[in-house]
Amino acid sequence: MVSRGAPDPTLCVYVAVDDGVVVGTAQLHANRGGNGSHVANASFLVAGDAGGKGIARMLAAYVMEKARGQGYEYMQFNAVVQTNVRAVALWQSLGFAVVGTVPNAFRHPVLGLTALHIMYRRL
Ligand SMILES: CC(C)(COP(=O)(O)OP(=O)(O)OC[C@H]1O[C@@H](n2cnc3c(N)ncnc32)[C@H](O)[C@@H]1OP(=O)(O)O)[C@@H](O)C(=O)NCCC(=O)NCCS
Repeated sequence: MVSRGAPDPTLCVYVAVDDGVVVGTAQLHANRGGNGSHVANASFLVAGDAGGKGIARMLAAYVMEKARGQGYEYMQFNAVVQTNVRAVALWQSLGFAVVGTVPNAFRHPVLGLTALHIMYRRL
């Protein structure tokens, strides 16, 4: 496959606004520098009282489109907590696959040692 070249590695931050209130945020950046910079990384946070309304789904679709526009070819999440079933289901429904699971990599404050998923998709 021919690479499209290195995207701009600048960190981008996006917010979702509902009636003048920020209800969610996302950041987009290169997962690694140098020869890994064609893979994007992103993270998402939605306000607790705004959950379950599709804000993360909308933000993720927007961020993936931005990532494509910036020249990224893949997107990778390095640390999706296995017990974060909402996030895992969302990312899977958006085409991300669990490509690896690191046992006991996260000290969950309630559940104790928990695995982290690495999730990945082509853009
Ligand atoms: C994970 C998070 C971003 C989801 O945000 P959200 O705006 O509530 O998510 P959405 O409303 O867009 O829901 C998206 C999907 O989540 C899943 N989902 C939502 N509520 C769920 C629940 N109670 N149980 C299981 N899955 C659920 C569904 O797959 C849903 O898809 P749908 O559109 O088919 O219903 C949000 O809970 C959050 O900010 N959590 C803390 C930070 C975090 O975990 N970030 C992700 C780290 S990988």
